[in-house]
Amino acid sequence: MRGKHIIVGVSAGIAAYKAIEVVSRLRKAGAEVKVVMTKNATHIATPLTFGEISNHPVAIDMWEEIHDWNVEHIALATWADAYIVVPATANVIGKINAGIADDMLTTTIMATPAPKFLCPAMNTEMYNNPIVQRNLADLRSLGYHIMEPEVGWLACGVTGPGRLPSPEFIVQWLTEQLSSLENKHLLDGKTVVVTAGGTQEYIDPVRYIGNRSSGKMGYAIAAEAARQGARVILVSAPTSLSVPANVELVAVDSARSMKEAVDRLYDSVDIVIMAAAVSDFRVANKAEQKIKKMESMTLELVKNPDILQSLGERKTHQLLVGFAAETEHVVEYGQDKVKRKHLDMLVANDVSKANAGFNVDTNEGYFLYPNREPKVMQNMKKSELARHIIREISDLLSFKS
Ligand code: C5P
Repeated sequence: MRGKHIIVGVSAGIAAYKAIEVVSRLRKAGAEVKVVMTKNATHIATPLTFGEISNHPVAIDMWEEIHDWNVEHIALATWADAYIVVPATANVIGKINAGIADDMLTTTIMATPAPKFLCPAMNTEMYNNPIVQRNLADLRSLGYHIMEPEVGWLACGVTGPGRLPSPEFIVQWLTEQLSSLENKHLLDGKTVVVTAGGTQEYIDPVRYIGNRSSGKMGYAIAAEAARQGARVILVSAPTSLSVPANVELVAVDSARSMKEAVDRLYDSVDIVIMAAAVSDFRVANKAEQKIKKMESMTLELVKNPDILQSLGERKTHQLLVGFAAETEHVVEYGQDKVKRKHLDMLVANDVSKANAGFNVDTNEGYFLYPNREPKVMQNMKKSELARHIIREISDLLSFKS
């Protein structure tokens, strides 16, 4: 962000106040920021605050400052390296898509050749309205970068998609989008092992003890790491998912076969992300032949090796990320795991929630670290969480180096 010229356009969503922190974070990251507001937005957040935080006058009205009206919108438009609208209301999205330029925001965004970013935030019904969705799809096809709103509780009292993500995430997203436009990927040159799926512990040649893991989280992470330029080796227990593009698959089944594969790769990789649900036990004596029906039987289980813990114990240069599925005391148990397994980061989630963890498309939880405060991850699609995870890993790598 250093030295970049960013215009932050603020339209009149109730989340307009969050744009103040976006401006502040952009400046802290080294960018120069100018703010353009719609008139309606000034009822929600004051131009004075934006002026102070950005250290530039805030542009609102095309006609007020007569002395430089003729150049202002063009000057701003050519000054910008990027133009981001936070929040983007249904109204502003509609106007931009319709080619209406009747105020400073819509005029400058139309006049700028810089890449354009919109962060829609509005009531769920409005967001789901087919007209808004059509406008967003049109704008996307015209090269606008559109951020997915979060699913969550909205100021209007309903829960659904439409919430503006946190300022921190918006700035991370913008940074990542700009760097990928400059053809830089977050994990260029890195080799990543991702484990995924639930291990299968054989009882006999046809039966096994398994778990509810679908592999969706691990596969989403592998896909995102590959998109970010990494060489990705996916060590996967059996799943019904197809291998993402540009990802190498190493197929395993039991915990021990997963350990063998990961151990073999460990010295030559930069990052290990253990998203697999590894069985803590295996059958003590696997039968060589299919066990015949009987009235009852007892299985003796023995402890499996903890793959992640053993990786943590012999960690050299690798960055190690674990997952924890908990049903209570998520942060407390997770933090203990970070220490015990020598992790750089742990993604801890509460699998007792219906929309998190096993076999669903969404997840939520916490990012935990050895020496930093936990970060809360709201409920979101696993693909979105995968992007947060990869971005976080990229940040951790830059702290390391
Ligand atoms: O201790 P717990 O099983 O909750 O830790 C979960 C983390 O440890 C996950 O990242 C999982 O992939 C890993 N794990 C492992 N070997 C085991 C059990 C879990 O690597 N036997």
